[in-house]
Amino acid sequence: MPHITLPIRTERLILRRFEGSDLDAYHAYHSLPQTARFLPGPAKTYTQSMERVGKYANFAFEKEGDWVALAIEDPARPGLQGEVVLKWLPGRGQGEIGWTLAPAARGKGYATEAADAVLKLGFEELGMHRIEARLDELNTASAELCRRLGMRQEGRHVDKWHYKGQWATELIYAVLADEWRVDRALKRRTSQARPGNLAVVGPSSITGSA
Ligand SMILES: CC(C)(COP(=O)(O)OP(=O)(O)OC[C@H]1O[C@@H](n2cnc3c(N)ncnc32)[C@H](O)[C@@H]1OP(=O)(O)O)[C@@H](O)C(=O)NCCC(=O)NCCS
Repeated sequence: MPHITLPIRTERLILRRFEGSDLDAYHAYHSLPQTARFLPGPAKTYTQSMERVGKYANFAFEKEGDWVALAIEDPARPGLQGEVVLKWLPGRGQGEIGWTLAPAARGKGYATEAADAVLKLGFEELGMHRIEARLDELNTASAELCRRLGMRQEGRHVDKWHYKGQWATELIYAVLADEWRVDRALKRRTSQARPGNLAVVGPSSITGSA
């Protein structure tokens, strides 16, 4: 298995392996139709949540088709806030990212922060070359999240899926390792240039590894 150092700590969050004790919190948001609206299946039954949490808790990332599945926690708030996943797609250096938050955890930038850390994991630790996200065109929250992460829309497949009783148009967003590094460096430069921070960063800072 490629080396994955867990937990991952971000500014506000801890991304860690799922545990059996996450089951009730996981089921609380995955049993809601509003959570399932843009996910492949219907709202989960308790048995389905048990199966999924068991799978996530024991994930192995050894071959194409495997997933890294990370529980999102904020040490300042009790309980599971959501999950972020990274799939090893067929082909050299290819990955797919996905995310879900509990309703109370939305609107705080948690998904952006967690997904950014998983892109870093994919590109810097797992050596991925390209990471994509596939979403329903009506899922504007996910599309905005992709754009916040520096992913660009590279595909639109009209009526690609039929689920939840209707046809859905699929959008594909993606980012390459080099694009992600440049975007990260630019964001860092912008935050360093904020009023009160006098750091001046030259063009050389946007090349090379972040
Ligand atoms: C997709 C999903 C994870 C997006 O959640 P989200 O809360 O919109 O995304 P973030 O956690 O990054 O938060 C962004 C929001 O927090 C706000 N925010 C507050 N503080 C922030 C910060 N520090 N950084 C970034 N955004 C911040 C942003 O302005 C944005 O608000 P807006 O939507 O009103 O513009 C969520 O809608 C979800 O779980 N949906 C159900 C499951 C699903 O559809 N999964 C995807 C299938 S493809």
